[in-house]
Amino acid sequence: MRTSLFRSALARAVPPVPARRVPASPLVLARPRVLAAARAPVRMFSASAPARHDEIVRPAPGTGIKVTYEDSNGKVIKTIEGNEGDNLLLLAHEHDIDLEGACECSVACSTCHVVVEPKFFDKLPEADDEENDMLDLAFGLEDTSRLGCQVKLAPEIDGIRVKIPSATRNMYVDGSKARTH
Ligand code: FES
Repeated sequence: MRTSLFRSALARAVPPVPARRVPASPLVLARPRVLAAARAPVRMFSASAPARHDEIVRPAPGTGIKVTYEDSNGKVIKTIEGNEGDNLLLLAHEHDIDLEGACECSVACSTCHVVVEPKFFDKLPEADDEENDMLDLAFGLEDTSRLGCQVKLAPEIDGIRVKIPSATRNMYVDGSKARTH
């Protein structure tokens, strides 16, 4: 009885404290946006499909597009089967064929120069200005010369033969002398 009287007296003496509004943390506020972003499909910077090494599937023997690489004397180095869209330079590297490619397909050198067998040359899409500019610098240029990194495999050129010239002209290396360290 005494206790309840004391409580009611205390309640009258001390006015109730109004409930404070606690502002929600920025994390809680951002949560729906964060969740939506996590669920959204991943968008790439590039529109082209990324090339991943583990995704390269080589054609079963007899089903791919055949390319024969020859040395400068016309001796066959290797015949390889590739997929549509493969380029002659990367395909050669994959099979340990000694075709240089100093600029790694960026059309800034002529070291991937190959001479295409005439009957296949006209079946290739024409070289663009960039390629032609680099070809002008190639060693041993011929009428059917192309840059290996710019020739892509297609069904129309199945069986193509390309000759690898005996030398390359590498603007950076040629004429420079090795320096001692
Ligand atoms: S690798 Fe340099 S142009 Fe082909």
